Amino acid sequence: MQKLQSNAAGISVAAEELKKGNVVAIPTETVYGLAANALDPQAVAKIFKAKGRPSDNPLIIHISEIEDLEKYAFPTEIAYKLAERFWPGPLTMILPKKECIPTAVTAGLDTVAVRMPEHPVARDIISKCGLPLAAPSANISGKPSPTSAEHVSDDFSGNQYVSAVVDGGKCKCGVESTVISLCGEAPCLLRPGFITAEMLREIIPDLKIAEAVLKELPTSEKALSPGLKHKHYAPKARTVCIKGLCENAVKYVESDGNKEKTVICFCGEEEEFKSCWVIPYGKADDFEELAENLFDALRQADKMDCEKIYVRIPQINEELVNGVLLAVYNRLLRAASFTVIDCDLAAKGLVIGVTGQSGAGKGTLCGILAKKGFIHIDTDKVWHEIIDASAPKLEAVFGKITDESGKVDRKILGEKAFSSPEDLEKLNAIAHKEIMAQVSVIMDENRAKGCFDFAIDGAALFEAGAKDTCDFIIAVVADRKTRLERVKNRDGIDDLRAEQRFSMQKSEDFYIDNADYTLVNDNLQELEEKLNEILEKYKEQ
Ligand code: TXA
Ligand code: MG
Repeated sequence: MQKLQSNAAGISVAAEELKKGNVVAIPTETVYGLAANALDPQAVAKIFKAKGRPSDNPLIIHISEIEDLEKYAFPTEIAYKLAERFWPGPLTMILPKKECIPTAVTAGLDTVAVRMPEHPVARDIISKCGLPLAAPSANISGKPSPTSAEHVSDDFSGNQYVSAVVDGGKCKCGVESTVISLCGEAPCLLRPGFITAEMLREIIPDLKIAEAVLKELPTSEKALSPGLKHKHYAPKARTVCIKGLCENAVKYVESDGNKEKTVICFCGEEEEFKSCWVIPYGKADDFEELAENLFDALRQADKMDCEKIYVRIPQINEELVNGVLLAVYNRLLRAASFTVIDCDLAAKGLVIGVTGQSGAGKGTLCGILAKKGFIHIDTDKVWHEIIDASAPKLEAVFGKITDESGKVDRKILGEKAFSSPEDLEKLNAIAHKEIMAQVSVIMDENRAKGCFDFAIDGAALFEAGAKDTCDFIIAVVADRKTRLERVKNRDGIDDLRAEQRFSMQKSEDFYIDNADYTLVNDNLQELEEKLNEILEKYKEQ
């Protein structure tokens, strides 16, 4: 891939490449576009191949003169009004297409998306080659859009389908153009951008906003804009949007059991997130600035190779999201698979750790908490659920431990891990890390749904580092005979096996010494009363 400057020489090389049917990445005021001759299906096919783009997702064609609009589409009166007002600029209109536009561009639809960019380099290139240019954002499909030539190189250097990139510096808007459909019954905003709904309503008072702009589309529903249905803008690491006061966001992030975390934060908050990488992306109330930098921030976060990415989003009731903030929300919600957590509410919730020896009654206590509305997270169950997905990490340490179907053979794993204290420690290190990461996923998902109280139960909470995750930890204790009977009955094992299991465990004193509270589990009613006393104390605070 050649790197071209945005001077006259670079622009004419780019135009020549495009005329030859090649693909060139060009700067626009929104994001970089991966351009090819829109009238040449073979050139267009290269774009899809280069990006790995699903062939059912149509492209936007870029023109340099308003007069060209009617060459490729059937413009309505409103289309001309919008063009006069907002072109050149970050607005894309969907209109009925003319015959000359190949179906490869429109993914078989009888409509076409057209835009006249404002960026002088983009327009020079279009007029120099004298062609309409089909150009999606110049990123590998699904990745954050590119807002600089470096981003394009990161994705496409060495890609056989891309001939060159023209370096036009950083993009001014940073988010893709506003997309409006003028084909349906009523004009509808499909993708928010710098031309805001409010601006469009000056010309189209009854403009609708597609539901998918801020909501996850049910998979069965047919997408108005195919681009809305595909996974988008997603970094590799699990990404979660967090809103609320900075102090509550800090508390939230610090209590996450993952070790390697990145926070894309507001300017001025950098010092607050002590245990994380931080990437400031703009002031909390400057939505243009947030839009301009958000893709760059997501890309930087990706390079940190962390386990979790948190993104601060402005604290605004979703019904009130408007202006350019609508575009910011639209992109970030997709990057985070629609997981948004209100940290102010989360801070009011309680996370209680419940630990103790086998048969002490952790489950009983969690059962009582569950009745009070706490979400019960059983770390043993969690490990069962994720053990197969953790196989590669386990095999890197223990060698082959999976059966033909790729599932972990727990007996083989047990034999290998229990062969020495060192091996057991290695197993625990992996298991604890994976379990706590999954616990954080479960908590995020529940909090995004509005549930904020949790009871996390496990025999190894201290070793797994759950202290940071929990507001406090309760140790449940019971005498040895009671525990023995419970374990035998529950797991259907004999005295010998039960005793064996006990001998592997930490002493009762270990739990009592480390826990914030100890509850003796010999009488259910008393247990509940004691628990209530503790809960009362936290409600007062
Ligand atoms: O700012 C931009 O629009 C950038 C620059 C390069 O111009 N381009 C861009 O293209 O963002 P792309 O392909 O990443 O996004 C185009 C969006 C997709 O969501 C696609 O589904 C939608 O426009 N689209 C294109 N043609 C359509 C049509 N005929 N009907 C409905 N949606 C369409
Ligand atoms: Mg795109």
